Amino acid sequence: MVPPGPALVFRLVLPQVLLSLCVYAILGALENRGHAYPTTTRWITYICAFLARPVWMLFLARPCMTSLNARKAAAKGAVLPPLVEGSSSEVLASVMRSFGNGYIGEGYLEWAQKYGNTFMYQAYTETRILTLEPEYIKAILATRFNDFEKGLVNYQQLKSLLGAGVFNSDGEMWKFHRNMTRPFFSKTRISDFDIFKRHADDIISAMKKRLAEGYPIEFQDAIGRFTLDSATEFLFGKDVGSLGAGLQYPKGAPIEIDLSSFNHPSNLFVRAFTQGQAQAALRGRRGDMWPLAEFWSDKVRIHREEVDKFMNPILEERRKSHLARSKESVEIGEDGEGETFLDHLIRSTDDDQIIRDELVNILVAGRDTTASLLTFAIYVLTERPELTERLRKEILDFVGPNACPTYKNIADMKYLRAFLNETLRLYPAVPFNSRYSKTSIILPAKTGRPPIYIPAGVKCVYSVFLMHRREDLWGPDALEFDPDRFIDERAQKYLTPNPFIFMPFNAGPRICIGQQFAYNEASYFLIRFLQSFTAFEIDWNVQPESSRPPDEWICIPGTTKGREKVMLSSHLTVVVKDGLWVKMQEQEMNANLE
Ligand code: HEM
Repeated sequence: MVPPGPALVFRLVLPQVLLSLCVYAILGALENRGHAYPTTTRWITYICAFLARPVWMLFLARPCMTSLNARKAAAKGAVLPPLVEGSSSEVLASVMRSFGNGYIGEGYLEWAQKYGNTFMYQAYTETRILTLEPEYIKAILATRFNDFEKGLVNYQQLKSLLGAGVFNSDGEMWKFHRNMTRPFFSKTRISDFDIFKRHADDIISAMKKRLAEGYPIEFQDAIGRFTLDSATEFLFGKDVGSLGAGLQYPKGAPIEIDLSSFNHPSNLFVRAFTQGQAQAALRGRRGDMWPLAEFWSDKVRIHREEVDKFMNPILEERRKSHLARSKESVEIGEDGEGETFLDHLIRSTDDDQIIRDELVNILVAGRDTTASLLTFAIYVLTERPELTERLRKEILDFVGPNACPTYKNIADMKYLRAFLNETLRLYPAVPFNSRYSKTSIILPAKTGRPPIYIPAGVKCVYSVFLMHRREDLWGPDALEFDPDRFIDERAQKYLTPNPFIFMPFNAGPRICIGQQFAYNEASYFLIRFLQSFTAFEIDWNVQPESSRPPDEWICIPGTTKGREKVMLSSHLTVVVKDGLWVKMQEQEMNANLE
């Protein structure tokens, strides 16, 4: 396997070498026909031929392409989005700040405030467009679906983590994966709550034990284990037992460091999985020159290998039992009833790599997203005890103090759904995403402005995180956490006439396939959790320093910077930086919740 750096250099240098060879050949041919060139002229010609491409790429391509595209736009009565001023390094520094130590997306927001909700920025050879405009995001994802794709650059950035699974493919390959996956998210399958019950009960009792020992809970890590075990049981028919590795203790806790827990296979898996995603996300921010930062070794592949090491025995075991089942001619139901997702994949292909890729794709899609939703739900409850009481009242009314919720209970609990939606509005699990334009496209005019021209092959980044916080779309209280906005007259005023202002699960043909599964899982967990615990607080004695926003951060219009108690950070999904340590009290059994 060629390392990323040399592969990039080869891709960049090859056209130059070819150009130089052509010039050399042409000069040679002319000389053979009697044109004599002085040696100096010949060398100058070779050097010019060799440097032509880098000079074009670094200095001329940008202004030439911009002016060409501006002319093409004008010919169609449109304009290019406003271009962010500044050198490539300034632009990239602002992008990195948005995801590094700054407030999430703040560089983009500053540009949006200066240039409007759709703008263009350039970093070295790459041009990107960013939009927070619901109509344009709707066009990218739904109405002009066929004119956009995830694209080759995204594919290459994520290939060593995701291969060519559903998340990371386009065209026919994507359709094949999507069709294969869809039956596993049928209503019958996702309303079977046995899986959630087992794992919710396990984690809640582990939390009770840990609280009884006198320690808080690192909620983000704990909930990641719940969603991982639930997702793997749903997909493989057997969970990966990540809760078996035990909950984290705070740093400095006077207990023996249990190396067996640190090196527990599921912990190795979780670490590899998380670091692989973080590293892959960095590539997206570095732009198309990312291989320079991983010149000699692919920094994602080692993590993916660790993930595969964990999955191989599960795959092998299921293959064996599949063989046994096929010998016994066990009947498979019409929509795959009676088999797991993994069984279905094994039946569909002999290629283990395709199967592993598909599993990693669904795990990436399903585990961290729901964990993010639940982590931010609890974070909000640490700040807003009155919301806990509202939720608990609804739980008492519909489910009772101890019973397990049914599918119908969850469907009837309007406030719980509004609470989850409000969490997804202010803290959407996938805050930034992108597509590439396949052809040049005109997007409709905004009031009083000309239509927008998007050239072919441009990366179009869209941010639901920033869109969900726009006061002109959600009203003057857009930055307040208030679930009632999904129930009261504000829903009629803002959301009903313009549903595309809320897109935590995307939209169009590639809308999240696990949306209902995620709502059921998060609702189920929250109900059982709030039946068991109360009085949530961040434990500032153990909450890492690195997770606290700098004291000098002040409130900035349009953001919750300066108001958040923890740092938000984002690789592919949004997380609380370095974890969320929560103290809480056990709820007395049968306590009157009113
Ligand atoms: C709160 C929880 C979740 C959120 C916010 C969420 C959000 C999203 C988003 C934004 C996408 C689009 C990504 C893109 O096209 O670039 C997506 C796709 C997807 N999600 Fe989810 N997701 C959640 C939970 C789940 C779960 C639990 C599963 C499965 C167990 C799942 C499976 C998928 C799959 C397979 C795709 C790819 C669909 C395709 O490209 O056709 N998601 N999700």
